[in-house]
Amino acid sequence: MFEKKTILTGVKPTGTPHLGNYLGAIRPAIRLGHEALAAGGRHYMFIADYHAINAEKDPAVLNQKLREIACIYLAGGLDPAKSIFYRQSDIAEIPEITTILYAYTPKGFMNKAHAYKAAVDKNREAGKPDDDGINMGLYTYPTLMAADILTYDTDIVPVGKDQVQHVEIARDIAGAINAHYGKELLHLPEYFVDNNVAVVPGVDGRKMSKSYGNVIPLFEDDKAIKKAIFSIKTDSRPMEEPKDPEEILVYEIYKAIATPAQLQEMGDGLRQGKLGYGHIKNMLLDAVIAEVSEARDKYNYYLAHFDEVEGMLEDGAAKARPVARATLKRLKDAVFGN
Ligand code: ADP
Ligand code: TRP
Repeated sequence: MFEKKTILTGVKPTGTPHLGNYLGAIRPAIRLGHEALAAGGRHYMFIADYHAINAEKDPAVLNQKLREIACIYLAGGLDPAKSIFYRQSDIAEIPEITTILYAYTPKGFMNKAHAYKAAVDKNREAGKPDDDGINMGLYTYPTLMAADILTYDTDIVPVGKDQVQHVEIARDIAGAINAHYGKELLHLPEYFVDNNVAVVPGVDGRKMSKSYGNVIPLFEDDKAIKKAIFSIKTDSRPMEEPKDPEEILVYEIYKAIATPAQLQEMGDGLRQGKLGYGHIKNMLLDAVIAEVSEARDKYNYYLAHFDEVEGMLEDGAAKARPVARATLKRLKDAVFGN
């Protein structure tokens, strides 16, 4: 499906990624990038730091989150020699292109955009005025995201369900511009939602999320991972009592990481009353550590040698910039009749 296609992935550097982010977003994005490259396509992977400043104002925190996310992608196998890996704020053409897109962005689109609507709903629930604490960066978020996408003639944007609407907005803005100037100035992108990617539950059974404080950490030491796994909710039934694995949270989390054979083993052991909660937690712990240990070493290496990563990001920006410049020129020529 990626035959000679351009795939673009953006990630906001907010929060320290947890196992759910890794299994649900980071690892699949890297895989898709590899598939696109293998099929003769291009893969852009960038860190959306301009998107992050809407919510995070502390430079030290922003800097730390950017470092973490960059190192996590590299640790997860992103190859900066093949994927174009850059920082959004290094491409000055992006905000310029955003400004042009604004002229074709109906305000109504922004009123309906998820990120803004969610913020308004939260204010209403708290009995505050609708726009309390909402800045223009958050309000116009989808137009900047449209620029991220349209700048590189992206064919496919892999996203989670919550981001589908934003890709549709990018498509609509591009369509409006093309229709106005009567030519394909901007390539219409499509979204791709990978339905095989599971939502990983957290230690309390709700979706694993930093906002619920129920996460299994990713690149912390074994002790911290163990502590989180051993805090997963269980009941007091004895080991011998046969159990339906589908009712057991440890098993649900294991699904996201285990091979089919491993999953079968845990399922059989629970059904037959041969595995207790301590056993299955240890099985999950082993699987998590096996999955992350090599990546964790790489992660720690890159964090400690961030100057190398900085160099990679600069090289990536140098590859992205000429494409962005060409798109900006195409747009300005059309808009100003040059
Ligand atoms: P959080 O809920 O911890 O704040 P984000 O909303 O920042 O996480 O999500 C970042 C990315 O990770 C998104 O693409 C999202 O779909 C994915 N993701 C987050 N939590 C999970 C989870 N529990 N299972 C699978 N994917 C997840
Ligand atoms: N809005 C995305 C998110 O919150 C991040 C993002 C910014 C993005 N620009 C993008 C994703 C362009 C894909 C393409 O996760």
